[in-house]
Amino acid sequence: MSNEQSLTNIYNTMVSTNEIQRNISQQTLVSELEKLTRKLEQKKALDVSVAGRVFSKFRFTKALEKNQGVYIHGGVGIGKSMLMDLFFKYLNLKEKKRIHFHEFMKGIHQLIKNAREKNVRDPIKSVAADYIKNIHVLCLDEMQITDVADAMIVGRVFEEFFKKKLILVTTSNRHPRDLYKNGLNRKLFLPFIDIMVSNLNVEKLSAPLDYRKIKISGKKKYFLSASPEDTFQFNELISDFNLRKGSGIKIQMNSREFEMKRFQSGVGLLTFNEICSIPMSSSDYLEIISHLRLLFLDDIPDLSNGGDDSAKRFINLIDSIYDQKVELLCRADVVPEKLYTFGKNKFEFERTVSRLFEMQSTNWPANGKSS
Ligand SMILES: Nc1ncnc2c1ncn2[C@@H]1O[C@H](COP(=O)(O)OP(=O)(O)O)[C@@H](O)[C@H]1O
Ligand SMILES: [Mg+2]
Repeated sequence: MSNEQSLTNIYNTMVSTNEIQRNISQQTLVSELEKLTRKLEQKKALDVSVAGRVFSKFRFTKALEKNQGVYIHGGVGIGKSMLMDLFFKYLNLKEKKRIHFHEFMKGIHQLIKNAREKNVRDPIKSVAADYIKNIHVLCLDEMQITDVADAMIVGRVFEEFFKKKLILVTTSNRHPRDLYKNGLNRKLFLPFIDIMVSNLNVEKLSAPLDYRKIKISGKKKYFLSASPEDTFQFNELISDFNLRKGSGIKIQMNSREFEMKRFQSGVGLLTFNEICSIPMSSSDYLEIISHLRLLFLDDIPDLSNGGDDSAKRFINLIDSIYDQKVELLCRADVVPEKLYTFGKNKFEFERTVSRLFEMQSTNWPANGKSS
Protein backbone atom coordinates (compact mmCIF):
# COMPACT_ATOMS: atom_id res chain seq x y z
CA MET A 1 0.00 0.00 0.00
CA SER A 2 1.45 3.38 -0.97
CA ASN A 3 1.14 6.44 1.24
CA GLU A 4 -1.62 8.02 -0.82
CA GLN A 5 -3.50 4.77 -0.41
CA SER A 6 -3.19 4.63 3.37
CA LEU A 7 -6.26 3.28 5.13
CA THR A 8 -6.84 6.70 6.69
CA ASN A 9 -6.86 8.32 3.26
CA ILE A 10 -9.21 5.68 1.91
CA TYR A 11 -11.52 6.19 4.89
CA ASN A 12 -11.40 9.98 4.43
CA THR A 13 -12.30 9.62 0.76
CA MET A 14 -15.28 7.46 1.68
CA VAL A 15 -16.41 10.24 4.01
CA SER A 16 -15.84 13.05 1.54
CA THR A 17 -17.73 11.22 -1.22
CA ASN A 18 -20.62 10.67 1.21
CA GLU A 19 -20.30 6.93 1.03
CA ILE A 20 -20.18 6.94 4.83
CA GLN A 21 -20.50 9.40 7.70
CA ARG A 22 -17.46 10.38 9.75
CA ASN A 23 -17.24 8.50 13.03
CA ILE A 24 -14.49 9.15 15.55
CA SER A 25 -14.31 5.62 16.94
CA GLN A 26 -14.02 4.26 13.40
CA GLN A 27 -11.22 6.73 12.69
CA THR A 28 -9.29 5.52 15.72
CA LEU A 29 -9.69 1.94 14.62
CA VAL A 30 -8.64 2.79 11.06
CA SER A 31 -5.38 4.29 12.29
CA GLU A 32 -4.78 1.20 14.43
CA LEU A 33 -5.34 -1.02 11.40
CA GLU A 34 -3.11 1.21 9.35
CA LYS A 35 -0.28 0.76 11.87
CA LEU A 36 -0.73 -2.97 11.61
CA THR A 37 -0.63 -2.78 7.82
CA ARG A 38 2.62 -0.80 7.93
CA LYS A 39 4.23 -3.27 10.32
CA LEU A 40 3.26 -6.19 8.13
CA GLU A 41 4.45 -4.53 4.97
CA GLN A 42 7.75 -3.43 6.52
CA LYS A 43 8.30 -6.92 7.78
CA LYS A 44 7.56 -8.34 4.34
CA ALA A 45 10.05 -5.93 2.74
CA LEU A 46 12.71 -6.92 5.26
CA ASP A 47 12.06 -10.62 4.89
CA VAL A 48 12.90 -10.51 1.20
CA SER A 49 16.19 -8.68 1.65
CA VAL A 50 19.14 -10.65 3.02
CA ALA A 51 20.14 -8.01 5.55
CA GLY A 52 16.52 -7.78 6.52
CA ARG A 53 16.38 -11.44 7.35
CA VAL A 54 19.07 -10.88 9.95
CA PHE A 55 17.47 -7.82 11.48
CA SER A 56 13.80 -8.53 11.07
CA LYS A 57 13.65 -10.90 14.01
CA PHE A 58 15.30 -8.40 16.25
CA ARG A 59 13.50 -5.28 15.07
CA PHE A 60 10.02 -6.41 14.31
CA THR A 61 8.98 -9.66 15.89
CA LYS A 62 9.61 -7.94 19.15
CA ALA A 63 7.38 -5.01 18.30
CA LEU A 64 4.65 -7.39 17.21
CA GLU A 65 4.92 -9.70 20.15
CA LYS A 66 2.37 -7.92 22.29
CA ASN A 67 0.46 -6.99 19.25
CA GLN A 68 -0.73 -10.00 17.34
CA GLY A 69 -3.59 -8.04 15.87
CA VAL A 70 -6.87 -6.40 16.71
CA TYR A 71 -10.08 -7.60 18.32
CA ILE A 72 -12.92 -5.31 17.22
CA HIS A 73 -16.10 -5.38 19.25
CA GLY A 74 -19.32 -3.37 19.54
CA GLY A 75 -23.00 -3.34 18.61
CA VAL A 76 -24.80 -4.19 15.41
CA GLY A 77 -24.35 -2.35 12.12
CA ILE A 78 -21.59 0.00 13.25
CA GLY A 79 -18.92 -0.87 10.70
CA LYS A 80 -16.94 -3.70 12.33
CA SER A 81 -16.97 -5.95 9.29
CA MET A 82 -16.66 -3.02 6.91
CA LEU A 83 -13.40 -1.85 8.49
CA MET A 84 -11.96 -5.32 8.84
CA ASP A 85 -12.72 -5.89 5.15
CA LEU A 86 -11.09 -2.59 4.26
CA PHE A 87 -7.92 -3.67 6.08
CA PHE A 88 -8.04 -7.05 4.37
CA LYS A 89 -8.64 -5.67 0.89
CA TYR A 90 -5.77 -3.21 0.93
CA LEU A 91 -3.24 -5.43 2.67
CA ASN A 92 -0.61 -6.16 0.11
CA LEU A 93 0.21 -9.70 1.17
CA LYS A 94 -0.59 -13.00 -0.47
CA GLU A 95 -0.65 -15.01 2.75
CA LYS A 96 -3.94 -13.66 4.04
CA LYS A 97 -7.31 -15.28 4.63
CA ARG A 98 -10.72 -13.87 5.55
CA ILE A 99 -13.41 -16.21 6.77
CA HIS A 100 -16.58 -16.13 8.83
CA PHE A 101 -15.91 -17.48 12.34
CA HIS A 102 -18.69 -20.04 12.12
CA GLU A 103 -17.28 -21.38 8.86
CA PHE A 104 -13.78 -21.38 10.33
CA MET A 105 -14.83 -23.48 13.35
CA LYS A 106 -16.67 -25.92 11.14
CA GLY A 107 -13.50 -26.43 9.13
CA ILE A 108 -11.33 -26.86 12.23
CA HIS A 109 -13.67 -29.48 13.72
CA GLN A 110 -13.62 -31.42 10.47
CA LEU A 111 -9.82 -31.34 10.30
CA ILE A 112 -9.52 -32.47 13.93
CA LYS A 113 -11.90 -35.34 13.21
CA ASN A 114 -9.76 -36.39 10.23
CA ALA A 115 -6.58 -36.12 12.31
CA ARG A 116 -8.10 -38.27 15.06
CA GLU A 117 -9.06 -40.91 12.53
CA LYS A 118 -5.45 -41.00 11.39
CA ASN A 119 -4.29 -41.24 15.02
CA VAL A 120 -2.27 -38.07 14.74
CA ARG A 121 -0.58 -37.19 18.03
CA ASP A 122 -2.03 -34.04 19.61
CA PRO A 123 -4.58 -33.44 16.82
CA ILE A 124 -5.63 -29.94 17.93
CA LYS A 125 -2.09 -28.61 17.92
CA SER A 126 -1.24 -30.29 14.65
CA VAL A 127 -4.41 -29.03 12.91
CA ALA A 128 -3.85 -25.47 14.16
CA ALA A 129 -0.26 -25.47 12.93
CA ASP A 130 -1.26 -26.91 9.54
CA TYR A 131 -4.14 -24.49 9.10
CA ILE A 132 -1.87 -21.45 9.12
CA LYS A 133 1.07 -22.98 7.29
CA ASN A 134 0.57 -20.54 4.42
CA ILE A 135 -1.33 -17.85 6.27
CA HIS A 136 0.28 -14.89 7.89
CA VAL A 137 -2.82 -12.83 8.53
CA LEU A 138 -6.22 -14.26 9.43
CA CYS A 139 -9.41 -12.16 9.50
CA LEU A 140 -12.31 -13.77 11.34
CA ASP A 141 -15.72 -12.18 11.12
CA GLU A 142 -18.27 -12.45 13.91
CA MET A 143 -16.46 -14.39 16.56
CA GLN A 144 -18.93 -15.79 19.03
CA ILE A 145 -18.76 -18.87 21.17
CA THR A 146 -22.04 -20.54 21.90
CA ASP A 147 -21.13 -24.16 21.47
CA VAL A 148 -19.34 -26.18 24.15
CA ALA A 149 -17.45 -28.12 21.49
CA ASP A 150 -15.98 -24.83 20.20
CA ALA A 151 -15.35 -23.49 23.69
CA MET A 152 -13.25 -26.52 24.62
CA ILE A 153 -10.80 -26.25 21.73
CA VAL A 154 -10.38 -22.57 20.85
CA GLY A 155 -7.86 -21.95 23.62
CA ARG A 156 -5.45 -24.54 22.24
CA VAL A 157 -6.04 -23.51 18.64
CA PHE A 158 -5.28 -19.82 19.20
CA GLU A 159 -2.43 -20.53 21.56
CA GLU A 160 -0.78 -22.39 18.70
CA PHE A 161 -1.65 -19.61 16.21
CA PHE A 162 0.00 -16.93 18.33
CA LYS A 163 3.01 -19.12 19.08
CA LYS A 164 3.48 -19.31 15.33
CA LYS A 165 3.18 -15.49 15.16
CA LEU A 166 -0.09 -15.36 13.26
CA ILE A 167 -1.61 -11.90 12.98
CA LEU A 168 -5.31 -11.96 13.75
CA VAL A 169 -8.03 -9.41 13.13
CA THR A 170 -11.45 -10.38 14.37
CA THR A 171 -14.88 -8.83 14.89
CA SER A 172 -17.39 -9.70 17.57
CA ASN A 173 -20.33 -8.10 19.29
CA ARG A 174 -18.86 -8.97 22.67
CA HIS A 175 -15.76 -8.06 24.59
CA PRO A 176 -13.52 -11.15 24.96
CA ARG A 177 -14.40 -11.29 28.68
CA ASP A 178 -18.06 -11.65 27.80
CA LEU A 179 -17.64 -14.48 25.31
CA TYR A 180 -19.37 -17.76 26.17
CA LYS A 181 -21.01 -16.08 29.16
CA ASN A 182 -22.80 -18.63 31.37
CA GLY A 183 -21.62 -21.39 29.03
CA LEU A 184 -21.17 -24.97 30.14
CA ASN A 185 -17.74 -25.63 31.75
CA ARG A 186 -16.86 -21.97 31.28
CA LYS A 187 -13.89 -22.35 33.62
CA LEU A 188 -12.15 -24.44 31.00
CA PHE A 189 -12.74 -21.67 28.49
CA LEU A 190 -11.13 -18.89 30.55
CA PRO A 191 -7.56 -19.44 29.25
CA PHE A 192 -8.84 -18.52 25.79
CA ILE A 193 -9.93 -15.10 27.07
CA ASP A 194 -6.47 -14.50 28.53
CA ILE A 195 -4.85 -15.51 25.24
CA MET A 196 -7.03 -13.06 23.31
CA VAL A 197 -6.59 -10.17 25.71
CA SER A 198 -2.85 -10.54 26.08
CA ASN A 199 -2.14 -10.88 22.36
CA LEU A 200 -4.63 -8.53 20.73
CA ASN A 201 -5.51 -4.87 20.97
CA VAL A 202 -9.10 -4.88 22.04
CA GLU A 203 -10.86 -1.99 20.31
CA LYS A 204 -14.43 -0.94 20.94
CA LEU A 205 -16.36 0.61 18.09
CA SER A 206 -19.38 2.71 18.83
CA ALA A 207 -21.84 4.60 16.71
CA PRO A 208 -24.93 6.62 17.50
CA LEU A 209 -27.04 4.37 15.29
CA ASP A 210 -27.18 1.12 13.39
CA TYR A 211 -25.97 2.34 9.96
CA ARG A 212 -27.54 -0.60 8.18
CA LYS A 213 -30.96 0.25 9.52
CA ILE A 214 -30.63 3.93 8.61
CA LYS A 215 -30.09 3.08 4.97
CA ILE A 216 -33.38 1.24 4.69
CA SER A 217 -35.42 3.07 7.30
CA GLY A 218 -38.68 4.47 5.98
CA LYS A 219 -38.14 2.65 2.69
CA LYS A 220 -40.45 0.10 1.14
CA LYS A 221 -39.40 -3.52 1.48
CA TYR A 222 -41.46 -5.16 -1.24
CA PHE A 223 -41.12 -3.83 -4.76
CA LEU A 224 -42.95 -4.72 -7.96
CA SER A 225 -40.93 -5.49 -11.08
CA ALA A 226 -43.51 -3.93 -13.39
CA SER A 227 -43.25 -0.55 -11.70
CA PRO A 228 -40.34 1.56 -13.01
CA GLU A 229 -40.44 3.65 -9.82
CA ASP A 230 -40.17 0.51 -7.63
CA THR A 231 -37.40 -0.89 -9.77
CA PHE A 232 -35.48 2.38 -9.56
CA GLN A 233 -35.79 2.52 -5.75
CA PHE A 234 -34.84 -1.13 -5.33
CA ASN A 235 -31.70 -0.64 -7.43
CA GLU A 236 -30.81 2.57 -5.58
CA LEU A 237 -30.90 0.68 -2.29
CA ILE A 238 -28.70 -2.03 -3.73
CA SER A 239 -26.12 0.53 -4.81
CA ASP A 240 -26.20 2.14 -1.36
CA PHE A 241 -24.77 -1.12 -0.05
CA ASN A 242 -22.10 -1.38 -2.74
CA LEU A 243 -23.01 -4.99 -3.40
CA ARG A 244 -21.93 -5.13 -7.00
CA LYS A 245 -18.42 -4.14 -5.94
CA GLY A 246 -18.63 -6.43 -2.90
CA SER A 247 -16.16 -9.08 -1.84
CA GLY A 248 -18.50 -12.01 -2.50
CA ILE A 249 -18.71 -15.05 -0.28
CA LYS A 250 -18.34 -18.79 -0.71
CA ILE A 251 -20.46 -20.77 1.70
CA GLN A 252 -19.74 -24.38 2.43
CA MET A 253 -22.99 -26.35 2.58
CA ASN A 254 -23.27 -30.02 3.47
CA SER A 255 -21.58 -31.36 0.39
CA ARG A 256 -21.34 -28.39 -1.94
CA GLU A 257 -20.31 -24.80 -2.10
CA PHE A 258 -22.67 -21.92 -2.72
CA GLU A 259 -21.26 -18.70 -4.08
CA MET A 260 -22.87 -15.34 -3.55
CA LYS A 261 -20.98 -12.95 -5.80
CA ARG A 262 -22.85 -9.84 -4.73
CA PHE A 263 -22.16 -9.80 -1.02
CA GLN A 264 -20.58 -7.31 1.33
CA SER A 265 -20.49 -7.15 5.13
CA GLY A 266 -23.52 -9.32 5.84
CA VAL A 267 -25.63 -7.89 3.03
CA GLY A 268 -26.32 -9.99 -0.08
CA LEU A 269 -28.18 -9.85 -3.37
CA LEU A 270 -29.62 -12.97 -4.99
CA THR A 271 -32.12 -13.62 -7.71
CA PHE A 272 -34.97 -16.01 -7.05
CA ASN A 273 -33.53 -18.44 -9.61
CA GLU A 274 -30.12 -18.49 -7.97
CA ILE A 275 -31.55 -19.66 -4.69
CA CYS A 276 -34.90 -21.34 -5.37
CA SER A 277 -34.52 -23.04 -8.74
CA ILE A 278 -31.83 -25.50 -7.77
CA PRO A 279 -32.00 -28.34 -5.24
CA MET A 280 -31.69 -26.85 -1.76
CA SER A 281 -32.62 -28.29 1.61
CA SER A 282 -33.79 -26.41 4.69
CA SER A 283 -30.37 -26.86 6.25
CA ASP A 284 -28.72 -25.36 3.14
CA TYR A 285 -30.91 -22.30 3.58
CA LEU A 286 -30.11 -22.10 7.28
CA GLU A 287 -26.43 -22.13 6.44
CA ILE A 288 -26.69 -19.46 3.73
CA ILE A 289 -28.92 -17.17 5.78
CA SER A 290 -26.64 -17.45 8.81
CA HIS A 291 -24.15 -15.29 6.87
CA LEU A 292 -26.63 -12.51 6.24
CA ARG A 293 -28.24 -9.61 8.07
CA LEU A 294 -30.00 -8.25 5.02
CA LEU A 295 -30.98 -10.01 1.82
CA PHE A 296 -32.09 -8.42 -1.43
CA LEU A 297 -34.09 -11.01 -3.30
CA ASP A 298 -34.75 -10.09 -6.90
CA ASP A 299 -36.95 -11.43 -9.71
CA ILE A 300 -39.46 -13.44 -7.71
CA PRO A 301 -41.83 -14.83 -10.36
CA ASP A 302 -45.47 -15.81 -10.25
CA LEU A 303 -45.24 -19.39 -8.94
CA SER A 304 -48.76 -20.57 -9.64
CA ASN A 305 -47.97 -22.19 -12.97
CA GLY A 306 -45.75 -25.21 -12.50
CA GLY A 307 -43.79 -23.62 -9.67
CA ASP A 308 -44.53 -26.25 -6.98
CA ASP A 309 -40.91 -27.18 -6.34
CA SER A 310 -39.69 -23.60 -6.33
CA ALA A 311 -42.61 -22.62 -4.13
CA LYS A 312 -41.62 -25.29 -1.62
CA ARG A 313 -38.05 -24.00 -1.58
CA PHE A 314 -39.28 -20.44 -1.24
CA ILE A 315 -41.31 -21.52 1.82
CA ASN A 316 -38.15 -22.93 3.40
CA LEU A 317 -36.10 -19.91 2.48
CA ILE A 318 -38.60 -17.47 4.00
CA ASP A 319 -38.87 -19.59 7.17
CA SER A 320 -35.12 -19.46 7.54
CA ILE A 321 -34.99 -15.69 6.99
CA TYR A 322 -37.84 -15.21 9.42
CA ASP A 323 -36.40 -17.45 12.15
CA GLN A 324 -33.00 -15.83 11.92
CA LYS A 325 -34.50 -12.33 11.94
CA VAL A 326 -32.80 -11.23 8.78
CA GLU A 327 -34.08 -8.16 6.93
CA LEU A 328 -35.58 -8.95 3.53
CA LEU A 329 -36.09 -6.63 0.59
CA CYS A 330 -37.82 -8.18 -2.43
CA ARG A 331 -38.66 -7.36 -6.00
CA ALA A 332 -41.40 -9.57 -7.42
CA ASP A 333 -43.77 -9.89 -10.36
CA VAL A 334 -46.83 -9.84 -8.13
CA VAL A 335 -47.90 -8.94 -4.59
CA PRO A 336 -47.31 -11.62 -1.90
CA GLU A 337 -50.87 -12.98 -1.86
CA LYS A 338 -50.75 -13.54 -5.64
CA LEU A 339 -47.39 -15.30 -5.71
CA TYR A 340 -48.83 -18.80 -5.45
CA THR A 341 -52.59 -19.00 -5.77
CA PHE A 342 -52.83 -22.68 -6.59
CA GLY A 343 -50.63 -25.75 -6.39
CA LYS A 344 -49.90 -28.56 -3.98
CA ASN A 345 -48.08 -26.38 -1.42
CA LYS A 346 -50.84 -23.78 -1.28
CA PHE A 347 -51.77 -24.46 2.34
CA GLU A 348 -48.22 -24.12 3.63
CA PHE A 349 -47.64 -21.07 1.45
CA GLU A 350 -50.18 -19.12 3.47
CA ARG A 351 -47.65 -18.96 6.29
CA THR A 352 -45.09 -17.59 3.82
CA VAL A 353 -47.46 -14.86 2.66
CA SER A 354 -48.20 -13.90 6.24
CA ARG A 355 -44.49 -13.79 7.08
CA LEU A 356 -43.75 -11.70 4.01
CA PHE A 357 -46.28 -9.16 5.26
CA GLU A 358 -44.97 -9.20 8.79
CA MET A 359 -41.42 -8.68 7.59
CA GLN A 360 -42.45 -5.56 5.69
CA SER A 361 -43.43 -3.70 8.82
CA THR A 362 -41.02 -0.98 9.91
CA ASN A 363 -40.41 -2.47 13.34
CA TRP A 364 -39.45 -5.89 12.04
CA PRO A 365 -37.23 -7.54 13.19
CA ALA A 366 -37.95 -6.17 16.67
CA ASN A 367 -34.72 -7.55 18.09
CA GLY A 368 -32.55 -8.18 15.07
CA LYS A 369 -29.70 -10.58 14.82
CA SER A 370 -26.87 -9.81 17.21
CA SER A 371 -23.27 -8.97 16.21
N1 LIG B 1 -19.61 5.55 9.20
C1 LIG B 1 -20.58 4.98 8.47
N2 LIG B 1 -21.50 5.75 7.81
C2 LIG B 1 -22.47 5.17 7.07
N3 LIG B 1 -22.63 3.87 6.88
C3 LIG B 1 -21.75 3.06 7.50
C4 LIG B 1 -20.70 3.57 8.33
N4 LIG B 1 -19.99 2.53 8.81
C5 LIG B 1 -20.59 1.43 8.32
N5 LIG B 1 -21.62 1.73 7.53
C6 LIG B 1 -22.50 0.81 6.81
O1 LIG B 1 -23.29 0.15 7.76
C7 LIG B 1 -23.55 -1.18 7.34
C8 LIG B 1 -23.18 -2.14 8.44
O2 LIG B 1 -21.78 -2.19 8.59
P1 LIG B 1 -21.06 -3.52 9.05
O3 LIG B 1 -19.61 -3.33 8.94
O4 LIG B 1 -21.65 -4.68 8.34
O5 LIG B 1 -21.53 -3.55 10.58
P2 LIG B 1 -21.21 -4.61 11.73
O6 LIG B 1 -20.22 -5.60 11.20
O7 LIG B 1 -20.67 -3.77 12.85
O8 LIG B 1 -22.53 -5.23 12.08
C9 LIG B 1 -22.75 -1.42 6.07
O9 LIG B 1 -23.60 -1.33 4.97
C10 LIG B 1 -21.74 -0.30 6.08
O10 LIG B 1 -21.39 0.07 4.78
MG1 LIG C 1 -20.46 -7.65 10.84
